[in-house]
Amino acid sequence: MPPAAARRKDFTGFRMRVQYCAWSKITAFQASRPFIVKADISMGFASLTHPARGSKIVPIVATLQRTFSVTTTVSSTHHAAPRVHPAGVRPSLEIVPFDAPVGAEVLGLDLNKPLSAEDFARIHRAHLDHHVLVFRDQRITPAQHIEFSRRFGPLQIHVLHQFQLPGHPEVLIVSNIRENGQPIGLGDAGHFWHSDLSYKEKPSLGSLLHAQELPSEGGDTLFANMHLAWDTLPEHLRKAVEGRSAEHTYLAKYAELQKRSPWRPNLSAEQIAEVKPVVHPIVRTHPETGRKALFVSEHFTTHIVGLPEDESRELLEALFAHSVRDEHIYRHQWAEHDLVFWDNRSLMHLAAGTPDHLRRKLYRTTIEGNAPF
Ligand code: SIN
Repeated sequence: MPPAAARRKDFTGFRMRVQYCAWSKITAFQASRPFIVKADISMGFASLTHPARGSKIVPIVATLQRTFSVTTTVSSTHHAAPRVHPAGVRPSLEIVPFDAPVGAEVLGLDLNKPLSAEDFARIHRAHLDHHVLVFRDQRITPAQHIEFSRRFGPLQIHVLHQFQLPGHPEVLIVSNIRENGQPIGLGDAGHFWHSDLSYKEKPSLGSLLHAQELPSEGGDTLFANMHLAWDTLPEHLRKAVEGRSAEHTYLAKYAELQKRSPWRPNLSAEQIAEVKPVVHPIVRTHPETGRKALFVSEHFTTHIVGLPEDESRELLEALFAHSVRDEHIYRHQWAEHDLVFWDNRSLMHLAAGTPDHLRRKLYRTTIEGNAPF
């Protein structure tokens, strides 16, 4: 057993993710609590201070422009030489889970470069394990965004063709910006909790949202873990929904959204025909992990099949309220060039809102999934 003083300084196995505000040589950071970190990125080391354990110098093992991760693998008595990464060289892929009910950050990946089969397999596995993956500082073109998305399956084209990125119909522009009085994108996408395209026979497997222009405040996206929602559902609600199905329709809140956002276009007869109501099980099984998840949302689910209207409404409201309890949620605060990839089979999401006078623009691709069972 090492002496108490040595034990106090033992950071073995600690791992932390640090976000910083400015790109400078030496900066003080507030690390994932309770560490304080001072880092000299150019020299490849960081000094960690823990209120109870004292300070220690550790190597920085991964750097990105906006985020770096510090991993200590040394014992309390061994001071490892700092590992320095020559400028421009990124370390190998690392998955750093968030201290949250879902989510992980993928470090050491530049989607400008070819993606090996091995790295792809690790990202795929991490997506199944963590449901939301955050790739920081991805300076990629829409074509690269599409190419990466296609590795996971065929892409779906959103029914609001008005908001496709010109030349790239697979990309939906999510934006509150207006040019010449006209909206350039879907400004209120995500106003209600939902799982993307749950109103289709084959709802989305996952979506990839890439930040183009961000507001100085607001604009966060929230993700709710629907596996946890199912696992923790009170017994009487489980019994009430087991074996039941619910209807989903794109039109459920369309008129209400149009009232709030008069720029929302009227749908043509062809568009309405594209989004006929569908019925899905209320509890779905993830086709790759076998885990069960609640699959109803305030945006698109209209009623539970076979129940009287008032009973169906009451039950749906209880399910919605339970799904978005604080302990199921990860809140993503966007940084420039973030690419966020979530699993629509495991999650619902919500756009928390952006003040009207601030501009926000993101590009979204949506991957087709399976018919829920
Ligand atoms: C969406 O619902 O896909 C958009 C989410 C967001 O804008 O934060």
